[in-house]
Amino acid sequence: MEKRNQAAKLLIGLVIIILAVLLLGGVVGGKNLVFRLGRTTPLTRDDISYKTVAAPAASSKDGTINAADWAAAYPEIVATMGDNKKNSYIVDYLDQDPYLKNIYEGFGFAKEYGSARGHEYTLEDVAHTARPHPLANCLTCKTPNFAKLVNDQGVSAYKIPFDEAMAMMEENVSCYTCHGNEAGEKGKLVVTHSYVTKALGANAEKIDPQCHIEYYFTPADKETMMPYSSVEEMTPEAILAYYDAMDFADWTQESTGAKLLKAQHPEFETFLSGKHAKLLNCADCHMPLEEAEDGTVYHSHLLVSPLENETLLESCATCHKDTDMVNMVHRLQERVTTRETEVGNALSAFKDALAAAVKAGDMGEEELAAVQKLYREAQWFFDFCYVENAEGAHNSELAFRCLDTAEQRINEGMALLGK
Ligand code: HEC
Ligand code: HEC
Ligand code: HEC
Repeated sequence: MEKRNQAAKLLIGLVIIILAVLLLGGVVGGKNLVFRLGRTTPLTRDDISYKTVAAPAASSKDGTINAADWAAAYPEIVATMGDNKKNSYIVDYLDQDPYLKNIYEGFGFAKEYGSARGHEYTLEDVAHTARPHPLANCLTCKTPNFAKLVNDQGVSAYKIPFDEAMAMMEENVSCYTCHGNEAGEKGKLVVTHSYVTKALGANAEKIDPQCHIEYYFTPADKETMMPYSSVEEMTPEAILAYYDAMDFADWTQESTGAKLLKAQHPEFETFLSGKHAKLLNCADCHMPLEEAEDGTVYHSHLLVSPLENETLLESCATCHKDTDMVNMVHRLQERVTTRETEVGNALSAFKDALAAAVKAGDMGEEELAAVQKLYREAQWFFDFCYVENAEGAHNSELAFRCLDTAEQRINEGMALLGK
């Protein structure tokens, strides 16, 4: 009898202690801690509660199913996508790196060039940029409604006057951009931008991000296009050869007479030849897996830096063991940006020397053309590194290769100018 009583007391005591831990944990650590107590291993893709649901009716005028339409089926995903509003800071690159204004002289980026805000600001920011944006092609990656317009109407949509097209746009980057109307099929990724299919044909399916890429506007149709036709040609060298072959320039700079190229956010191309290309995809490092109160596991659609998210940092450890990732990445980025500043300033000095030679008018035509070509190439390789947003974290080897190549062209050009 005594023994039984003691056992019962012990049991009750134990239950009280466990309840106290759970309760206090909940109060002190919030809901997450309670959930974490029940989970001993990090979330993996196998835990994702892929819910296949029937597509809701589209309420947008153009037939795209918008975020609000999906809210009943995928509340967590819609809510986290909305959280991209939090990403509202802007770094003014022209202030940060004054040499840029000189290099970009004569082009829109010399007027305004800041870091992009989150996907919830795309329409507002494209409408208000100080850079010229006469045509609808500037809307290509800013809204699903324009992608749909191109899909419905064809390439003529790119030449619609900007304001006319803007009036038809309803959403910032949203579900249709990445999933078409097929998010209900376990979040299937769909190529919704016709230029991807046109450029890469059967390879298009491999394109994960359709927008974080290098592109240009075709001279005839002003159509958005990728400058390659295979994954192998996604290098700065091959892309330059592509532009050279079609004698393409984004602008001709008055002071130097050089036909110049402007690179744009080549995150995908850079990532592809990097160390993680065969191991991970963009979502693995920028969309943490999260667990809702009802146990639903999903990819957060708030796009974040892996350095600012515990879950993502924990996932690095699978391969990087106990390396301090924040420190490791920051050191790498610092090496890249230091070198960038060095080469950027040298490029700016090269531009001044070339402009002076053009002004003096005492150089032979052929010799001048050779220096202009070297300046075009130096600017291209520098830019390819500068405008890639991970500052070396996606692929430091490529970043340094670009900067070294730019420097080599600068030195060659300066020698021809007798400097
Ligand atoms: C910028 C691109 C992008 C946008 C915008 C986007 N998604 Fe996703 N979505 C993804 C990616 C990437 C994945 C993960 C794919 C994978 O498994 O690697 C994903 C996964 C999903 C999944 C599968 C479940 C999961 O969590 O992995 C669903 C369902 C989904 N998205 C629905 C939506 C809905 C609804 C919207 C609009 C509110 C939306 N997505 C907006 C890119 C996007
Ligand atoms: C191995 C992890 C990893 C993968 C995979 C990865 N990235 Fe990144 N990405 C990073 C890191 C690290 C940074 C730098 C973050 C920082 O500076 O805080 C970064 C930065 C970025 C930025 C700049 C963010 C900002 O706030 O300026 C963009 C955009 C980006 N990545 C897009 C992509 C795209 C698109 C893909 C797929 C093609 C991709 N990333 C794949 C790790 C990754
Ligand atoms: C599936 C394995 C794997 C995961 C997960 C992983 N990495 Fe890596 N990472 C690698 C490998 C392999 C290398 C190449 C190592 C080498 O060359 O010494 C690498 C290299 C890197 C580099 C150097 C890249 C360069 O080009 O110099 C950075 C930065 C990096 N990882 C960041 C991250 C971050 C941040 C995460 C987590 C968000 C992460 N990695 C997750 C496998 C992984």
